[in-house]
Amino acid sequence: MLVTRRHLVVGAAAVASFSAAKAQKLVATSAQDLGPFYPIVRPPDHDADLTRVTGRGGVARGRPINVIGRVVDLQGNAVTNAQVELWQCNSEGRYDHPGDRANPAALDPNFQGFARLATDRDGQFKFRSVKPKDYDTPIGRRTPHIHFDISGRSERLVTQMYFPNEPLNDIDFLLKNAAPRESVIAEAIDPLSGDPDALAYRWTVVLAVG
Ligand SMILES: [Fe+2]
Repeated sequence: MLVTRRHLVVGAAAVASFSAAKAQKLVATSAQDLGPFYPIVRPPDHDADLTRVTGRGGVARGRPINVIGRVVDLQGNAVTNAQVELWQCNSEGRYDHPGDRANPAALDPNFQGFARLATDRDGQFKFRSVKPKDYDTPIGRRTPHIHFDISGRSERLVTQMYFPNEPLNDIDFLLKNAAPRESVIAEAIDPLSGDPDALAYRWTVVLAVG
């Protein structure tokens, strides 16, 4: 290909804008309410596979999901060894919590419901779970979400992760307070190799301080 002056100018502009974008700070992930269902008693099994409970033979009901998360600071640097706690309702919308007893949905004895993880040297964490269902509250219906409590080097972020393209996302009374909204909505990605039946999502958590 003949490289013209125009190609060189366009190429230089692209490099400059890429460098500017790289130097630009990211936007911090929005905080969200802790909610009423943080586990009172944390289960002894709190590993990264929420679809099985140690000592029980079954598998959690519902559509399996894999979530690949990454915790970074505003410059995009990995936050290593961050503590990541997460908890969620099961595939029928029920939390394993005494405050959710009035919920007519059934508990699932094979669903772990809570995990405590640590980010690796790239700031990554990963877990396998089931897709949480939407559920009713006295002040409105919640769209599917997973709760997070993330402790970095010098910052704690309590937030919630949402799923893309959910019909209830537009009316959820907590998601509407997220700023920016996109910061708490995961991206759907192709299923992971070796786990083709599980939906897969990627979510980047940006800590303001790190
Ligand atoms: Fe919730």
